[in-house]
Amino acid sequence: MTFKRWAAGAALLLSAGTLANCSQIFGESESAGAGGSGEGITTAMLVGADGDSANWISHGRTYSEQRFSPLDSINRDTVGQLGLAWSADMDTGRGQEATPLVMDGKLYLTTAWSKVKAFDAATGAKLWEYDPKVPGETAVKACCDVVNRGLAAYGDKLFLGTLDGRLIALDRDTGAVAWTTQTVPTDKSYTITGAPRVIDGKVIIGNGGAEFGVRGFVAAYSADDGKQLWKFYTVPEGDEGDDAPAYLKKAAETWNMDVLAANDAIGGGGTVWDSMAYDPDLDLLYIGVGNGSPWNRAYRSPGKDGKGQGDNLYLSSIVAIRPKTGEYVWHYQTTPGETWDFTATQHIMLADMTIDGKPRKVLMQAPKNGFFYVIDRETGKFISAKPYVGLNWATGVDPKTGRPIENPETRVDQTGKPAMVLPGALGGHNWHPMAYSPKENLVYIPAFEAGMMYAPEANWKPDRARGFNVGFSLAGELPADGGIRKQAAGTLRGMLVAWDPVAQKARWTVEHPGPWNGGLLATGGGLVFQGTAGSEFNAYDASNGKKLWSFAAQTGVVAPPVTYTVDGEQYVAVLAGWGGAYALSVDGDLINRKAPVRNVSRLLVFKIGGTAKLPAPPALAELPLDPPPSKASAEVIALGQVKYGRYCAVCHAPGAVGSTVLPDLRRAGALESAQAWNAVVEGGILKDSGMASFKGSLSKDEIEAIRAYVIKRANDDKALEAGKRVARR
Ligand code: HEC
Repeated sequence: MTFKRWAAGAALLLSAGTLANCSQIFGESESAGAGGSGEGITTAMLVGADGDSANWISHGRTYSEQRFSPLDSINRDTVGQLGLAWSADMDTGRGQEATPLVMDGKLYLTTAWSKVKAFDAATGAKLWEYDPKVPGETAVKACCDVVNRGLAAYGDKLFLGTLDGRLIALDRDTGAVAWTTQTVPTDKSYTITGAPRVIDGKVIIGNGGAEFGVRGFVAAYSADDGKQLWKFYTVPEGDEGDDAPAYLKKAAETWNMDVLAANDAIGGGGTVWDSMAYDPDLDLLYIGVGNGSPWNRAYRSPGKDGKGQGDNLYLSSIVAIRPKTGEYVWHYQTTPGETWDFTATQHIMLADMTIDGKPRKVLMQAPKNGFFYVIDRETGKFISAKPYVGLNWATGVDPKTGRPIENPETRVDQTGKPAMVLPGALGGHNWHPMAYSPKENLVYIPAFEAGMMYAPEANWKPDRARGFNVGFSLAGELPADGGIRKQAAGTLRGMLVAWDPVAQKARWTVEHPGPWNGGLLATGGGLVFQGTAGSEFNAYDASNGKKLWSFAAQTGVVAPPVTYTVDGEQYVAVLAGWGGAYALSVDGDLINRKAPVRNVSRLLVFKIGGTAKLPAPPALAELPLDPPPSKASAEVIALGQVKYGRYCAVCHAPGAVGSTVLPDLRRAGALESAQAWNAVVEGGILKDSGMASFKGSLSKDEIEAIRAYVIKRANDDKALEAGKRVARR
């Protein structure tokens, strides 16, 4: 087996408008009390959020989602005195991806498992908490950890999307539930991890699930009572009737509708699982649409020759819609006929800038496909695109058509042959928010490189069994060769890129030890804040990338920071806690071995002169690599490998290499005993903590074959490196 073949499985986963002067807007609301009484957060406050530097009232701070705060008392000169003001431990040990909201001295956040907590933003005193009690088994419907990215605020309420698809309104003062609406069909693998947005009293939320055969949509609900107001599907259903909206009829022309109509389990994908932005002047809501389901277009939308065909609208597109009605206005498709999981759900950011001497209202995105796009946000017309990371699937974007110029060798749905593709399914940039500094006219991108081998799965069939169902083999063969594994890990790269969107090139780049570093915040103090996979929380000079300050966070930090003031004093807050797709799939033996990345889930809040200290980091549990002997036949092990790739790799890492967050199955106590193994995998005894039962998806023999495969892998690795290793939980 070649290095490339291995990199296959492993690398996968290794594999605003500032409107009126804000004192006018806030003059009223301050007396009304954004703290709860009166009308609370209003549309005018959301539209004018840019002028309210004390608070952070919507996901990307403003509807433009720039994540730039004008606050400047923490700046290049003072950041050296930044210290911990307070911290708060979270009660979940999974990935933390949330952006906190801050209003009138109170900080609200979501954690893993869609829980919500409220704190006094200056002292850290806990005000209330809310647990929606998402069933542990829901985890198996989620592609990428049991994360949640945050809340929306409107009136006296906060809005939360839960992993199991509920939209919940909470009283902001008490955390009491005001209403609950189930937004997704519960018999399909839909999940919500994204933050809702509120536009004029309508709460807008999408969902995820395009690894599992769902049909993507975004919908709006009344902030008053949770009643659904409109629903916008991103892909056609199969049999578009005459009364289907025109935009879906147009989409239907770009799909093989016979295949789509015949298979409820194909779904098409196109989930809207993260980004949205809003331009109040144009009254346009922008949504980022996800990948196809299944990924492999040859199965999703085949031509007569069995090869993939059609653009498959509106996959991997930015779509502009009317927030009042859900009416389609325009779209721009970043990856026509996507087949590599190249979502366009990444951060959408709006800004006004001069390009070629003309003032332009632009929309910017660095989607997974590796190109940085600048689009006219009024019309959806392409302005420019250039690669912000290394890529090999296209040589550029045709400025006339706005379409990529593809490399035919990486068109795996056409060739039917495996190919190493860069970026891989994790993208060149994932959900981690960017930030924009209008002072520097730079977009800061948390970028990375992690290629992936796409090996089309033979005889793929749509089905609704648990587990990834994407039309590529994710078995993740791993040679028992440390050299090759190190080499593959060496191809991984993580960086903070300061991108000039007018010149379409990097002005400066900071290299990180590896991928999956934190989301970003840019400030008027000339700083860019970012957490890292290397367990640091850093401040960089926004103009040149010089590291000015660093804090040892004890855990990988992936969430984006926010900043706010209480009584005029500036704070910076970030939710720490390693997790998400990469953390679950990376080779735990090789990545950051010197300083293992762990999950210590905790909110960190800083101010100038802060003197608080973190508790000592929890001790690492040492689990020896001591498997039973491998006695199963090659045939059984091969079956186990395929089933492992399909059902287990997404959480326990491809090739059973032991991810950085969830149990390393090579070291699991249950590996010793068929009965104990079965009690977990079929019996579901750990389902409440996120390890679902696979009964109905896997037979007893298949479950035992997976055990045989993991035993084989464990023995190979034991032979590879004798001696004890530190295992992470
Ligand atoms: C959706 C994520 C997810 C998937 C998919 C998944 N697991 Fe797990 N698994 C977990 C979590 C979370 C735990 C830890 C549960 C706990 O802490 O009690 C776990 C624990 C286990 C354990 C116990 C480990 C120990 O240390 O004793 C075994 C065995 C196991 N999984 C096997 C499997 C097998 C086999 C598959 C594929 C058929 C699989 N898992 C798929 C999330 C997952």
